[in-house]
Amino acid sequence: MKTLSPNLQIRPATASINSAGHLTIGGCDTVALAKEFGTPLWVMDEESIVQAMRACLAGLSSYPQTRIFYAGKAFLCQAMCKLIDKHGLHLDVVSGGELFTALSAGFPAHKIFMHGNNKSADEIHDAIKANGVTIVVDNHSELELIISISRALLAEDASITKVPILFRVTPGVEADTHQHIQTGHHDSKFGFAIKELDSLAEIIKKGADAVNLIGLHAHIGSQTHKIEPYLEIVDILADCFVDFKEKYGITLSLLDVGGGLGIAYNDQDKPLAMDVWAQSIAQRVKTSFSNRGLDLPTLAVEPGRSIVGTAGTTLYTAGHAKSLPSGLNYLAVDGGMADNPRPITYQALYTACIANRANAPLSTNPLTLVGKYCESGDIIIKETYIPAQTGDIVAVFGTGAYNYSMASNYNRTRRPACVLVKEGKADVIIERESVENLIQQDRVPARLLTD
Ligand SMILES: Cc1ncc(COP(=O)(O)O)c(C=O)c1O
Repeated sequence: MKTLSPNLQIRPATASINSAGHLTIGGCDTVALAKEFGTPLWVMDEESIVQAMRACLAGLSSYPQTRIFYAGKAFLCQAMCKLIDKHGLHLDVVSGGELFTALSAGFPAHKIFMHGNNKSADEIHDAIKANGVTIVVDNHSELELIISISRALLAEDASITKVPILFRVTPGVEADTHQHIQTGHHDSKFGFAIKELDSLAEIIKKGADAVNLIGLHAHIGSQTHKIEPYLEIVDILADCFVDFKEKYGITLSLLDVGGGLGIAYNDQDKPLAMDVWAQSIAQRVKTSFSNRGLDLPTLAVEPGRSIVGTAGTTLYTAGHAKSLPSGLNYLAVDGGMADNPRPITYQALYTACIANRANAPLSTNPLTLVGKYCESGDIIIKETYIPAQTGDIVAVFGTGAYNYSMASNYNRTRRPACVLVKEGKADVIIERESVENLIQQDRVPARLLTD
C-alpha cells in the first residue's frame, strides 16, 4: 500500500467537491456543517489524522524500537487523546491542563512525556503521582525540585515508582523557520547547554534514589522543511550518549529528537513527506550510534503539526465587505485572531476556498480576508483571489494545529465548536462556548453590588 502523507497537501485528505459545488470533508457537506453547527467552526478530518499517524509509523518501521509522541500542544481534547491511543501513539504534554485532559480521557500515564520550561511544583507533583509519566527536565532548579518532590512521594506512597526523566538539550542547531518557533539554537530559553551536562551527571548520581535518567531530548523548532538539522541533532546527541557512558558511567537508552515537521499551508511550502522525514532520522540514528560503538537507543519523535495541521479546516461566514479608494478590498469574516492567532503572531500564511461555491474561478482582484477583532493586524489572508462575497461560507485550510490550542476569548467572543468528520458523519468533539461560559469565572466584589 502506498504511504500517504497529508502534510504535503493544502487540503485535508478527504476534501472533495460535490454536485452542488460544495466543499466536502470526511464525506460531509461543509455548507451543511456550517448550517447545523454554526460558524466559525473547526472541522477535523479523522482520515487525515490517521493517514499522518500511519505515515510516521511507516517511516519508522525499519527501526527496532520506536515511539511516536503526538505533541498535544498542537491540538488536544479528550477525543484526540482517544484517537491517538487507539492508533498506538504516545503523547507529549506541556502543562498540568494537558496532563489532566489526557488522564481524564483514560490515556495511560506510562505513555506520556511531560515537557515545559517552567513546570510548577504542582505540575511536577501531579505528573509523578500519575505514576509512569516521564518528565523531560529543562533546567537545574527544576531537576532539584523533581528530585525532592519524587523523594517525598516515594516515602509516603509505596505504589509510586521512581520518576523516569530525560534531559532536554539545546543542540545549537538553527531550524529553517520563523524565529518565534525556533527552539534548538544557542541562547534558546529551552533546555540545557551541552557544557552543563557534567554538572547534571553529578546531580543525577546523588538523586538516583528518586529519579531514573533514561535519555536525552532535543527539539529544534516548528514548521521546518529541511532534514539536515534533524540529522545534525542526532549526531550531537549521539556524542552526548558517548559522554554519559564514558565520562559518567551512565548508559542512556532513549533518544528523543522532538517534532517540528512542517505542512503545506500554500503552494510555496514544500515540506518533507512524513514517512521520509521519520525514515531519514531513523537511518541516521542507526549509522550515528553504530559508528560510535553504541547500542541503538529507543527512538522517539514528537510530531504535532504534521499529525493534525492538514486535518483541520475553519469554516467562517463572510460578513461586511469594504472597497477602499486605494483599491484595497476587505471582506470580514465572523472569526479571526481569537480562533487563529498564527497570522498576527508570526505572519503565518493560509489558503482558502469558498465552501458553497468551491468551483468558482479565481478573481483577478485581490481580496484581503480580515477577522472581526479590534486589531488592525487581525488579517487571516492578506491577499487571496477567491471571489468571496458577503454571505459565503469561507473555508480556511490547514488550521488543525495551533488554532484551537492557541485560541482566546479576545473581545469576549466565544471559542468555536470543533467537529470530527468521518465517512459522512460529524461528531462534536469540542462544544462551542456559550455567553454564560464567558462570565462563569467573573466575580463582583460586594462593594460594587450596593446601589
Ligand atoms: C518539545 C516539543 N516537541 C514537539 C513539538 C511539536 O512541534 P510540531 O507541532 O511542529 O511538530 C514542540 C513544538 O514546538 C515542542 O516544543
